[in-house]
Amino acid sequence: MTDTTTQAGTAPAAPPQDIRVGVIGVGRMGADHVERISRRTKGARVSVVSDYLRETAEKVSASAPGSRVVDTPEEIIAADDVDAVLIASPGQFHRDQVLACIAAGKPVLCEKPLAMNPQDAYDVVRAEHESGRSCVSLGFMRRFDTGYGELKDALDAGELGTPLILNCKHRNADVLPGFTNVHMVYDSAVHEIDAISFFLEEPVVSVQTITPRSTENAPEGLSDPMLLLLRTASGTVVTDELYVSTDSGYEVRTELVGSKGVATVGQESGMVTTQQAGGRWGGAVPADFRPRFVDAYDAEVQAWIAAVADGSFVAPRSATAWDGYVAAAVCEAAERSLTADGPVEVQLLERPS
Ligand SMILES: NC(=O)c1ccc[n+]([C@@H]2O[C@H](COP(=O)([O-])OP(=O)(O)OC[C@H]3O[C@@H](n4cnc5c(N)ncnc54)[C@H](O)[C@@H]3O)[C@@H](O)[C@H]2O)c1
Repeated sequence: MTDTTTQAGTAPAAPPQDIRVGVIGVGRMGADHVERISRRTKGARVSVVSDYLRETAEKVSASAPGSRVVDTPEEIIAADDVDAVLIASPGQFHRDQVLACIAAGKPVLCEKPLAMNPQDAYDVVRAEHESGRSCVSLGFMRRFDTGYGELKDALDAGELGTPLILNCKHRNADVLPGFTNVHMVYDSAVHEIDAISFFLEEPVVSVQTITPRSTENAPEGLSDPMLLLLRTASGTVVTDELYVSTDSGYEVRTELVGSKGVATVGQESGMVTTQQAGGRWGGAVPADFRPRFVDAYDAEVQAWIAAVADGSFVAPRSATAWDGYVAAAVCEAAERSLTADGPVEVQLLERPS
């Protein structure tokens, strides 16, 4: 039998309060995060949302019980009923919105990219450093993917020996009209560029972009597929194959070639069927990143909420402002290499101690 008596004079412990999250930008990714926090994240609820399009904000808010809509990101960041901010607006607004969160002393999970160029990203690194406490987490959710975690653990335990080559593949069924070579670098390759920071924990020193002939499915002017060849300070080479007009589905595969073994993650196929009609055998390919990485997004947001609740603000393994700056610096070099002959050197400013 459970003892339910309390000592005389001891008040029962107050139930823990949910972390109240304000979400800035509720398009595709922001609405997905609102749904996740409202339905699947323990210890959190969405309290306020805003979007450039008020109608979009109202529609998404209606799906999050107890939330309200405000007109501007500034109102969210300043709101008394917002303990932590999730930013899912377009990348060009991230720098200013994250800087405002740092100034307000509020923990923030910002979707990638941190900024659209290394200078802006470094502004965030410096501001966070000067504020005296870490509060910026960056939405590189693959760090919370089970396969990524297993590969990282194997590497850290020395099971694969010295990393020699990291082979990455990143494929989409299609992209929106207007997707350019620069988007290929800043929107797509940026995930593998962060994977280098995550797995290898050392800087990229050079990057070369290689453009084979394009598929006839590619939007006008896009070099698709595209290859990135990157070299780290210790000599590990990373290949990144980007192919965003496959017309089939979303695939992300990662293979680490080490001196003691080779490990591959991301080959999940789910159910495999054999069909009599047509005599075909196989599984399904996820339509886009949301079903493919749903567990990783869930784990990322849950880890962030736990870090906000315990006051550490940034979860272990999460990408930080510095990781966002490094990614921006490598993307900028990759962009320059689109019009250069041969590899382009990556320049990194000093990391604040
Ligand atoms: N981690 C991932 O796998 C992943 C996947 C997709 C997108 N993203 C990132 O998420 C962010 C949003 O991408 P998306 O695909 O949801 O785009 P989206 O266009 O679907 O949504 C962006 C929303 O922000 C709103 N908005 C525009 N300007 C704003 C402002 N100044 N303040 C507040 N809201 C504003 C728009 O009205 C829109 O509703 C981008 O940074 C993108 O790179 C990350």
